[in-house]
Amino acid sequence: MICYLNGEFLPLAEAKIPVLDRGLIFGDGVYEVIPVYDRTPLRLDGHLARLQRSLDALRIRNPNTAARWTELIGELIAKHETADQSVYVHVTRGVAKRDHAFPKDLAPTVFMMSNPLSTPSVEQVERGVAAVTGTDNRWFRCDIKSTALLANVLLRQLAIDAGAAETVLLRDGFLTEGSAANIFVVKDGIIRMPPKSHLILPGITYDFIVELASGAGLQCEASDVSESELRAADELWLTSATREVLAITTLDGRPVGKGVPGPMFRRIHALYQAHKRPKKG
Ligand code: PDD
Repeated sequence: MICYLNGEFLPLAEAKIPVLDRGLIFGDGVYEVIPVYDRTPLRLDGHLARLQRSLDALRIRNPNTAARWTELIGELIAKHETADQSVYVHVTRGVAKRDHAFPKDLAPTVFMMSNPLSTPSVEQVERGVAAVTGTDNRWFRCDIKSTALLANVLLRQLAIDAGAAETVLLRDGFLTEGSAANIFVVKDGIIRMPPKSHLILPGITYDFIVELASGAGLQCEASDVSESELRAADELWLTSATREVLAITTLDGRPVGKGVPGPMFRRIHALYQAHKRPKKG
C-alpha cells in the first residue's frame, strides 16, 4: 500500500517518522477521514475547511493550500485499486526535542494513507446496531479533530466490551455525540441533533444528513437533547464518514422505539445512498 509522507509517495511499510515527532510524544496533531466513492472524495471542501479550523486552533501552519491538498489526495487515490476508499490525512506540529512549549519554525509532519472503504454491512443497515451510553469525560475542545484520541479510544472500548457498535456520550445529563460519530434523535417525526459547539465534532456527515433531510422536506432541529429525551427517542442514528448513517436499535440493551430501523432512517439512508457518488455524465 502506498502512502504519502512529507512530500513523498512510498510504500506504507517503508514510511518512518522520528520518535520525537510531537504527534507521538504529545498527540500534538490533527487529522481527517475522507470517504471516497468512485474515486471522488465526498464533501472534500468541508473536510479541508475543518482541517484548516483544527490547524488554526492548534496554531499549526497549514502546510498546503486547499488546491494542493486536492491534488495530493487525488494522486493518493489514483495509486490505489479500489474505487471506494477512505483517505486518512494527518498533520502534526513536527519533530523537536521534547518540550511542551511550541518550538519555533517547525516544519509540520504530513502523512496520508488510503484504505478500501468498508461501509456498514447489509445486516447492520437492515437490523441496526447496538449502542451503550457512557460519560463524556473528554476535554472542552471536542470541536478540534485532534489525533489525541485517548478518551475516545477508552469510550469506544466500552461499546466493544459490551458487544455493541458505539458508545453514546452524555455530559451533564445531555447528549453530546458518539465516541467516533455524531448522534441524531428522531421524536414524533422531528429530527433533532445537538447543536455545534466546543462539546462535539462538527461532522461533515452531520451537515450532509441535515442538508439531505431538509431538502426532502423533513424537519430538523439543532437543540440540546436530555438523557430522558435520548432514552425516549423513536429512532436514534449515528453518522460518520465511514459508517455513513446507521440506526441504533438498542441502547444499553433496551430497544430504541420499536427496536428496528425506523421509517425516517430508511428515508435518510436511501437519500444518502442516492447522493454519495459523483453524478454520472
Ligand atoms: N471520526 N464525532 C467524532 C468524535 C468523530 O470521531 C467523528 C468521525 C465524527 C463524525 O464526523 P464525520 O462525519 O466528519 O466523519 C463525530 C472519524 C471517522 C474517525 O475518527 O475515524
